[in-house]
Amino acid sequence: WSSMKLPSRPELFDFEGVSMVHYFTDNWEKVKNFQARPDDILIATYPKAGTTWVSYILDLLYFGNDAPERQTSQPIYMRVPFLESCFKVIASAKVKCHCISCKSEPVLCISSEICEADTEVLCWLYSAGTELADNLTTSPRLIKTHLPVQLVPKSFWEQNSRIVYVARNGKDNAVSYFHFDRMNMGEPEPGDWNTFLQKFIEGKKVFGPWYDHVSGWWEKKQTYSNLLYMFYEDLVEDTGREVERLCSFLGLSTSVEEREKITKGVQFDAMKQNKMTNYSTIPVMDFKISPFMRKGKVGDWKNHFTVAQNEQFDEVYKQKMKNTTVKFRTEI
Ligand code: A3P
Repeated sequence: WSSMKLPSRPELFDFEGVSMVHYFTDNWEKVKNFQARPDDILIATYPKAGTTWVSYILDLLYFGNDAPERQTSQPIYMRVPFLESCFKVIASAKVKCHCISCKSEPVLCISSEICEADTEVLCWLYSAGTELADNLTTSPRLIKTHLPVQLVPKSFWEQNSRIVYVARNGKDNAVSYFHFDRMNMGEPEPGDWNTFLQKFIEGKKVFGPWYDHVSGWWEKKQTYSNLLYMFYEDLVEDTGREVERLCSFLGLSTSVEEREKITKGVQFDAMKQNKMTNYSTIPVMDFKISPFMRKGKVGDWKNHFTVAQNEQFDEVYKQKMKNTTVKFRTEI
């Protein structure tokens, strides 16, 4: 993909009180009016909290056995549409086309009408998440969102759809987000670690403040019973136990053997090797800077935070989280 001309990094702006980039607001009318279904499962997270991990677990729980092609030729971001995303033409380049109609390679381009392998093609990453979701033929639909709870389309609440929220402790979440922003040209420029951390603390990150996100969804759980609130740290500590929790929330009677098989297949190293889950098929990400599947650890923040940054973070945390009962572990 080296010959591709990528668009410049987007700017952050205020959208309904939340910092956003245009990729997630361009399609807002359709997002807002999205028609959820009662059997939809929404996977909601603040960016970098383990979205891909839980998406893949759910995908295997529902579709792991009946569609081998789904597992071998469809990247996870095509199986689990990112609701609010709207990436239009990403670039044109002389590359081998990986679109759906080619089928030979991982799906990348979805505008099949312009597919001609080995010629100049326009590569579309996804069109809009709403379109991808509307076009899903399998059921239940698994749909991903990073929206803070107050911006979630109202039909999800009206339809009483099931929601799995995954939260990650703020320190590791910030570190993971920093490295993601460095390598992902679809994100605003992160600056150096300290610059990034100050923006994270101020809530000037795409999808707004981490504090409001995790606590807003936590409050929602008190009144909306179809919501399972999970923690990244729990998943790292005992993936099998969390897969079991997911099954019981979803009412799935998956066998012990099957659960064990899934637990093995979704471990960090397996997902890092798997082209369908490691995001290596996305051109806006520069893996030479940092891979998508980076470390997958709890406590990596200790390799980034200075003593002063840690004290500052703890001080701000106390203030911002004083009205919520959600509790995080920064080590296990
Ligand atoms: P790190 O950057 O700390 O490694 P998201 O999918 O929400 O973007 O989150 C990405 C983060 O989840 C990355 O964190 C990634 O490595 C981690 N992750 C993804 N799959 C994982 C797995 N199977 N085990 C542990 N961590 C995983």
